[in-house]
Amino acid sequence: MHDKTPRRFRSAAWFGKIDKDGFIHRSWMRNQGLPADVFDGRPVIGICNTWSELTPCNAHLRTLAERVKRGVWEAGGLPLEFPVTSTGESNIRPTAMLYRNLVSMDAEESIRANPIDGVVLLVGCDKTTPALVMGAASCDVPALVVSGGPMLNGKYRGEDIGSGTDLWRFSEEVRAGTMSVADFGEAEGCMSRSAGHCMVMGTASTMASMVEALGLGLPQNAATPAVDSRRLALAHEAGRRIVDLVRGDVRISTVLTRAAFENAIRVNAALGGSTNAVIHLLAIAGRVGVPLTLDDWDRLGHDVPTLVDLKPSGQFLMEDFYYAGGLPAVLRALGEQGLLHRDAATVNGRTIWENSRDAPNWNGEVIRPLDRPVVAHGGIAVLRGNLAPDGAVLKPSAASPALMRHRGRAVVFENIEHYKTRVADPDLDVDERCVLVLKNCGPRGYPGMPEVGNMGLPPKLLRRGVTDMVRISDARMSGTAYGTVVLHACPEAAVGGPLAVVRDGDMIELDVDKRVLRVDATEQELARRLATWRPSESPAGAGGYPQLYTRHVMQADRGADFDFLLGCRGHEVPRESH
Ligand code: FES
Repeated sequence: MHDKTPRRFRSAAWFGKIDKDGFIHRSWMRNQGLPADVFDGRPVIGICNTWSELTPCNAHLRTLAERVKRGVWEAGGLPLEFPVTSTGESNIRPTAMLYRNLVSMDAEESIRANPIDGVVLLVGCDKTTPALVMGAASCDVPALVVSGGPMLNGKYRGEDIGSGTDLWRFSEEVRAGTMSVADFGEAEGCMSRSAGHCMVMGTASTMASMVEALGLGLPQNAATPAVDSRRLALAHEAGRRIVDLVRGDVRISTVLTRAAFENAIRVNAALGGSTNAVIHLLAIAGRVGVPLTLDDWDRLGHDVPTLVDLKPSGQFLMEDFYYAGGLPAVLRALGEQGLLHRDAATVNGRTIWENSRDAPNWNGEVIRPLDRPVVAHGGIAVLRGNLAPDGAVLKPSAASPALMRHRGRAVVFENIEHYKTRVADPDLDVDERCVLVLKNCGPRGYPGMPEVGNMGLPPKLLRRGVTDMVRISDARMSGTAYGTVVLHACPEAAVGGPLAVVRDGDMIELDVDKRVLRVDATEQELARRLATWRPSESPAGAGGYPQLYTRHVMQADRGADFDFLLGCRGHEVPRESH
């Protein structure tokens, strides 16, 4: 028996038996060349890996898994790597979000069904992070997240270019005729030039930061570049730490407290982070039973200045953020202003404040001081009104100040196909004061709630130099995108939310300061329109997973999780088979 093992772990129910079952569990594992004494009751650490060559952002994760294993062995544990479904934003159709809940189920059931005492979650591309955290949270085992890290800065003709963000710009320039297709092709090879995930403050970087702010990742988990040797060292250290967490029975619910979520929401505001974090944190909170609402996002983030000047809202990229001090420098700035629950626990055994109180800021342009923020009031604005009774969100730091209070005539697209055929119509009756409205792209309407909310502007307006317009939808927006874009309108059009009955020519009012989003129509008029409204046929009626998805997905204000996945089911195996 290993001398550091003070108690019997969960895996002993498999490997600790001196009978036929124990023989089966150990013997088959020994076909991998494991010595007999590794089944001596030491902690068994699952390394849950979203590695896949189809998820390019995570294609280097097997290297990190090997470093985690080193740490686990050193600390006296037994590391066992296992795969779960991987979702790569750049390839998966129709949208990776359709599969986030599926991956979370894969992770949850894999952890519970196997002899695992604690788990290291290897993640990177957007949905892989929330999916695995949701899965581990529903089992409530000790867990530690290691992110794959961002790519190095893109470099194009001497200019730093950011994943996605500059692609959207180049794409609009090609549409406007100011960039050649040949130059566009050259930029393609310059954008993604190392291992890692998108290196803007998009959803992947935001979620890696959320993991660190929640206390689930080690300090500098978020910003260390994927190819920096310190990323390998962090994975090694994570392997050591997870063994300690198992020995101390520090479960994920110990870390994922209400205070941790409040810290994460404020950090997101300071980062100008992705709107997708709203949905993912609501879903994670739902798994651990922490009450968290859409309004918490507005209330907690509203007074937090955006300090980090990263694309898509700002200028710099994740590599610059790391060299400037990374997330610990932001945590320190928030902590000094009383905007952090300092005593929140983290996976390295120290509080979040102990981890960050001495963190340096090496570059005041990348991580601005509090008296010179990028945006004085960052965060996520939660809008309500007769267009979104259950809320909609807008990211002020990505929006045009001149459009934050706006009235305009609605130009309506019934669904994404309608948008694609109509937006380029030279006869489309639209000008820059109009409000573009896109319906049926919510969780059910376009199963998976795709990132189409930042719909491109009509080409005829682009050619006139228009760069932003108010856009409203029940869709999401890529974390790499920007614009005055109202997202996640709840209830969505496909379930009969008021968005469903907005018509061309309706006047729409957006007032971000007052948190108002409304259409000029009386309650009676909206009710009259809704009385004759019929849902369009769901593309998910054909069966399979999309059918399960549309039947059980909740609205965005509930994190778009499945109704039957809410809550923690623990790690007990309901029934033993052998
Ligand atoms: Fe994977 Fe952006 S495509 S993080």
